[in-house]
Amino acid sequence: MASRVVLLGPDGQLGHDVRRAHVASGDRFDLQALRRADLDIAVPGEIEHVLGDRRFDVLLNCAAYTGVDAAEDDAASAFAVNAHAVRSLAAVCAARKARLIHISTDYVFGGDAARKRPLPEDAPVAPVNVYGESKALGETLAREVHGDVVVVRTASLFGAAGIGGRGGNFVETIIRDGRDSGSLRVVDERTMSPTSSADVARVLIRMVTEGCAAGCYHVVNSGSATWFEFARAIVRGASIEATVTPCPASEYSSRAARPRYSVLDNSKAAAVFGAMSSWQEALDRHLHLRGHRQA
Ligand SMILES: NC(=O)c1ccc[n+]([C@@H]2O[C@H](COP(=O)([O-])OP(=O)(O)OC[C@H]3O[C@@H](n4cnc5c(N)ncnc54)[C@H](OP(=O)(O)O)[C@@H]3O)[C@@H](O)[C@H]2O)c1
Repeated sequence: MASRVVLLGPDGQLGHDVRRAHVASGDRFDLQALRRADLDIAVPGEIEHVLGDRRFDVLLNCAAYTGVDAAEDDAASAFAVNAHAVRSLAAVCAARKARLIHISTDYVFGGDAARKRPLPEDAPVAPVNVYGESKALGETLAREVHGDVVVVRTASLFGAAGIGGRGGNFVETIIRDGRDSGSLRVVDERTMSPTSSADVARVLIRMVTEGCAAGCYHVVNSGSATWFEFARAIVRGASIEATVTPCPASEYSSRAARPRYSVLDNSKAAAVFGAMSSWQEALDRHLHLRGHRQA
């Protein structure tokens, strides 16, 4: 079992839940949270400077440039954080024989628009936007420089902290807009794996405490949904008086293209860590915890 773990991105949506899951596991290892103020991974030389003398046996990278639309106009920043910094993190890990657990995304897929079956870990990557390209390159560069890399691809996260730790995410937006307007139109042409960041965090803690073979794992809640289906479940689960109507993606113009289908097959992770809850069960738990649903 790893005894010293460095966590990057501890205040992001996933990083926040990793810290909670670490406490819930009984603080079974030393967790050193490094915020951007401690280590800005986009600044050349900082990774080597800050991590060079630090003792750790696992580096858990939850830091990322996650602005999917912003990345279209700022590819340099997206690639600096999601690709080139990941290479440097992997190189530092290789030099000290530490494991890198790196978080990636379903957005490395999407180019196969006709796809209708969940994607396994070895499906060819085919990103449709700059963010996805930068994340796909990060995976490749990490593997090129280090043999002990675990890539965890996850998707469509909802967690207590919200995106960037600022409280907002799709669940909160649907609840707020549903209450405010009583009527929602939500895209029904994109199918994905809605996933609780708390559930992913629990698997990450088990990866640290129990270990697993190096390689790629899809860690998402079970099942799939379109954004319309997900929104309808949120409105029902939170007992909001609002109608939810399906609409085409063309109704919402966005800077970046999005995958039409990016459902991840989680059976490899399930074989090692046990079946993941369905997204409906995970959503139920989340709504209870957030006080959006009565017992
Ligand atoms: N959110 C999703 O739906 C989703 C879906 C699939 C995969 N993922 C992946 O899951 C991982 C975690 O995502 P998340 O939702 O937790 O993202 P998030 O809430 O946006 O958090 C990202 C974290 O990265 C930090 N960060 C960004 N640039 C940095 C830099 N240059 N140096 C150091 N730290 C930096 C941010 O710090 P600041 O607070 O200082 O900005 C923030 O704490 C990412 O790898 C993401 O690609 C997310």
